[in-house]
Amino acid sequence: MPYATENNLTDLARKQWEACQSPRLRKIMQSLVQHIHGFVRDVDPTQDEWLMAVDWLAKTGKLCSGKRQEFILFSDVLGVSMLVDAINHRFPEGSTPSTIIGPFHIDDSPELPMGANLAEGLSGEICFLVGTVRGLDGKPIEGAKLDIWQADAEGMYESQLGAEEPRLRAVFHTGPDGKYAIRTIAPPGYSIPMDGTVGDLLRKTTISHYRPAHIHFLIAAPGYETLITHLFKKDTKYIDSDVVFGVKDKLIVEFKQHPAGKTPTGEISEKPFLVVNYDFTLAKSKP
Ligand SMILES: [Fe+2]
Repeated sequence: MPYATENNLTDLARKQWEACQSPRLRKIMQSLVQHIHGFVRDVDPTQDEWLMAVDWLAKTGKLCSGKRQEFILFSDVLGVSMLVDAINHRFPEGSTPSTIIGPFHIDDSPELPMGANLAEGLSGEICFLVGTVRGLDGKPIEGAKLDIWQADAEGMYESQLGAEEPRLRAVFHTGPDGKYAIRTIAPPGYSIPMDGTVGDLLRKTTISHYRPAHIHFLIAAPGYETLITHLFKKDTKYIDSDVVFGVKDKLIVEFKQHPAGKTPTGEISEKPFLVVNYDFTLAKSKP
């Protein structure tokens, strides 16, 4: 191997990864070398700047836990999460579009019966989520799993509050009619977590660090592509400036005001409430 020079270093580092047994990992590492060398040549960092970057990455890693993922947040604000999502979810026309999962999803949410209150015991504007999960052929999907999670009326997620019990997250299953009807509270728009390394970075800019009001859904059914998406509140603040680029036109929905009275889950509400009516359309799994 020739000795390294500024000019041949990228080629040497690429070549080193020829020794990788997995062709996929070899391709990934060689591309990473190519692009990161290109980045370094472009930025022309001082030694101190390079150390600062290493330190920033180390601090970011230390912030990650089972309940917090600062690297996902970093990927989100760079638009990388949405790019990976777009590449992997080229669903056929007519399917509900996907969007990012975000850093707040928690696995193994409790199963609740259809019609249950996702926000039991929590205050906020009463809101009902109703609709049908369908295939592209228009037929309802029985047994579709809806994993739903959202922020509370203050814009905070369970993991940010360190709650002991599951909070504003649950799993529901559709019956033979594919329908869902869930009671919850309306979440507001919120700031992404600004107390970590991503916040430190954003504070050096005038980038808005807010997300428009939304509710998260992960919908899975046998024979169909899993859909990870949000429903965004129409005309809400930050709808045109989502810091993580998550908004798509077809995911914007009206949170319609209803007077007190009979609700979509059959109960009588003494207070006015909101209704979000949305049908999800899943694409068939690829063979
Ligand atoms: Fe969110």
